Amino acid sequence: MEYLKENLFNNEVMSLDTYIMFRLKEMAANLSQELIKKNRKPIFLSMGAPTAKPPKKLLEDLKASLDDPGIHTYSSPKGEKYLRDAIALRMKNRFGVDLDPESEIFSLIGSKEGLTNLIKAICTPQENDKNKDIILTPDPCYASYWQFIKTAGAYGYHMPLTEENNYMPDPGIIIERLTKEGFDPDKIKAFIINYPSNPLGAVATKEYVKKVVDFCRKYRILLISDAAYADVYSDEKDKPFSVFEIEGAKDVAVEFFSFSKPYAVTGWRLGWICGNKEVISRFGKFKSTIDNGAFKGIQKACAQILNSKEGDEYIKQANIDFARKQNIMAKGLKELGWQVDEKSIPHATFYLWMPIPKKYKTSMEFCEDILQKSGIIIVPGSAFGTYGEGYFRISCVCSDEELFEVIDRMKQDGFYFNKQ
Ligand SMILES: Cc1ncc(COP(=O)(O)O)c(C=O)c1O
Repeated sequence: MEYLKENLFNNEVMSLDTYIMFRLKEMAANLSQELIKKNRKPIFLSMGAPTAKPPKKLLEDLKASLDDPGIHTYSSPKGEKYLRDAIALRMKNRFGVDLDPESEIFSLIGSKEGLTNLIKAICTPQENDKNKDIILTPDPCYASYWQFIKTAGAYGYHMPLTEENNYMPDPGIIIERLTKEGFDPDKIKAFIINYPSNPLGAVATKEYVKKVVDFCRKYRILLISDAAYADVYSDEKDKPFSVFEIEGAKDVAVEFFSFSKPYAVTGWRLGWICGNKEVISRFGKFKSTIDNGAFKGIQKACAQILNSKEGDEYIKQANIDFARKQNIMAKGLKELGWQVDEKSIPHATFYLWMPIPKKYKTSMEFCEDILQKSGIIIVPGSAFGTYGEGYFRISCVCSDEELFEVIDRMKQDGFYFNKQ
C-alpha cells in the first residue's frame, strides 16, 4: 500500500486469509496444467455444492419469470410477499411450525450472507479476546463461522463436538468452563447450533435442542440454528427438525434455511431467516442498509418450487443419489485400509468425515499431498476448527464416475490409510 495508510483495514481483516474453499480452488488452478499432463485432472471433492442439474421446474419458472413486468427492478431486503408466503407454508408443511410471513420471515442473499450480517449486527468489535462478545460455536463447524465471528471483532468460543458427547456439546458445563478460563459469561451473545452438521453430518435429538433452548432462555442468549441441510437426509427415522418444534424456542431463536443444497442452486444465492420477531425486525433494519434483496426472478421460481410435488420428488431423488455416492466413497476408502462401519456414513448431508492416513502429521499436509500427486481436492479438518485436526472432509456431490476415478487414483498413487 505505497500510497495508502498501512492501517487502512482493521486488524481482524488484516489477519484474514482467503476462505479455505477458494484457496483450495486457487491451489488446484495453479497446478492444473501439471496435473493434466500426468493424467490427474483436478477432481473437486471440496465444496459443499451439489453439481447435479437443478429441478426442471425451477429452471423453467426462472426462465418464464424473465418477461414478467417489473421483475428486473429492485426487490426489498425482506423479500417478495409471494416468497415469504411460500416459506411460511413450507415451514408448516415440513415441520408443522407456524410463522407469520410479515414479521417472522426475512429473505437472505444466501444463508452465509445472513449469518455473517447477523453476527456483525449483534457484536460490538473489540481488540482484546477477553473483552469480546462471545459466540458459542460448535467445533468442528462450517468453516465460515470462524471467519465471520473474527471479522465482527467477536470471540468464537469452541464447543467440541466429539464422539463421546454424540456431537451434542452439553450447555450445562459451558458457563463454569468459560468463567474458569477468565471469560465473562455476560458477554455471551449467541449460541450456534448446526444440525445436520457440516462437516460431520450429525443430527441432534429433540431432547438436546430442548436443553439448548432452555439454556438460552435462562441466560438470555440468542440461539442461532443453522438448518442449511434440513432437507439433505437419507433416514426418515433421523429426519432433521426445526428448532421451532421445541416449545419456547421462538422466544430466543432464529433459524437459517437455504435453497442452495436441496435444489442444487448454490450460485443463485437465496435463503431465509425466520423466528423471533424482535430479532428479525432489528436485523431487517440493518439489512436494509446493506442490500435490496435477491433478484425477483429467483425469488419467484424458488417460491414456486418450495411446496410443489416436483420439488419434493427432486429432493427425494437427490438424497438417494447423495447416499449412494457416500457409500461408493466409503467402500473405496475401506479398500484403501480405512476403518469403515455404519457409523462412518452419516444419515444426513452429503459429506464424509474421515481420519487422515497415519503417516501425516496434519490434515493440511495430507490435503496438499493428495492434491499435488493425484489432483484430488478435499478439505483439511483443521479448516473446520481445532477439533477437526486429524480429519478430512469429502463432499460427495460429483458424478459416480469421478468418485470411482478418485479411488483408482488413490490406489495407484499409494494413498493407503496405514502406509508409512
Ligand atoms: C452449515 C452451513 N450453513 C450455511 C451455508 C451457506 O449456504 P448458502 O450461503 O449457500 O445458503 C453452508 C454452505 O456450505 C453451510 O455448510
